[in-house]
Amino acid sequence: MKVIRIPAKITKLLASARHKGKRIGFVPTMGALHQGHLSLITRARQENDLVAVSIFVNPAQFGPREDLNKYPRPLKNDLLLCRKHKVDLVFLPDNKSMYPASFSTFVNVEKLSDLLCGLARPGHFRGVATVVAKLLNIIRPDALYLGQKDAQQAVIIKKMVCDLNFPVKVKVSPIVRQEDGLALSSRNAYLNAAEKDAALVLFKALSLAKSLIGHGQRDAARIISKMKELIGRKKQAHIDYAAIVDLESLQGMKKINRDCLICLAVKIGKTRLIDNLVVKYGEK
Ligand code: PAJ
Repeated sequence: MKVIRIPAKITKLLASARHKGKRIGFVPTMGALHQGHLSLITRARQENDLVAVSIFVNPAQFGPREDLNKYPRPLKNDLLLCRKHKVDLVFLPDNKSMYPASFSTFVNVEKLSDLLCGLARPGHFRGVATVVAKLLNIIRPDALYLGQKDAQQAVIIKKMVCDLNFPVKVKVSPIVRQEDGLALSSRNAYLNAAEKDAALVLFKALSLAKSLIGHGQRDAARIISKMKELIGRKKQAHIDYAAIVDLESLQGMKKINRDCLICLAVKIGKTRLIDNLVVKYGEK
């Protein structure tokens, strides 16, 4: 496994592999790798000749009062996990090589970036789209692997790839959860024991919504109010949003008359967690 810090170096290396006909799969991450990330790496390994993983805590996607400085950076362990999962190349750029002082170009996926998480985190998706665009240009993969955990991010990146004609296939993998339902996240590390317990309410609320839909409830407002009621019983939980939206436009749905995405952002203590569930229309 090669660890490469210089963008031009990894571009060159991968260009020569591409010329030899190698298919390249790419998994962008911010490190603190867990089974969620590893599921993407495993899929990329199965579907490609070469697997590249980037580890970069992207400052452009953090707001001024967010957790950029305390975001976990267990680099040694991350590299061990990459090696264990047969990653070929780890791209480990520093802030300066990604954002030199003169940096002044940003990618903004309009409308989709202003909804849901975009409301509480202005500029977040601009930072995400910009870094993913840069990473795609540096790595030039055949396939890009993302997780459904960040559903809005996946929709936005797919839109960017389509609108800007990036020659890459976007593959979105299901959310990896603990047995108790909690979606794996690097930010779960911030939770104490009581908060971890309270955090289970996210998946419980999503499951409740799914079951209501399964039993024929079609009124989104009613479903959302039941979810809010359940979450409201946990004193550590403060809802940022609970929404039922269209899978592509991410616009709120009034009536459940097609497949939908139920999504949640909830602060547990000081930690903001997100989770979601896709519900197929007509599924019990
Ligand atoms: P990060 O939070 O490290 O996540 C990297 C990838 O892992 C994302 O595509 C995310 O959706 C996926 N992922 C995280 N938890 C998951 C889970 N429990 N199950 C399945 N997939 C999971 O998302 C980012 O980094 C950044 O925004 C990035 C795309 C790297 C741009 O900086």
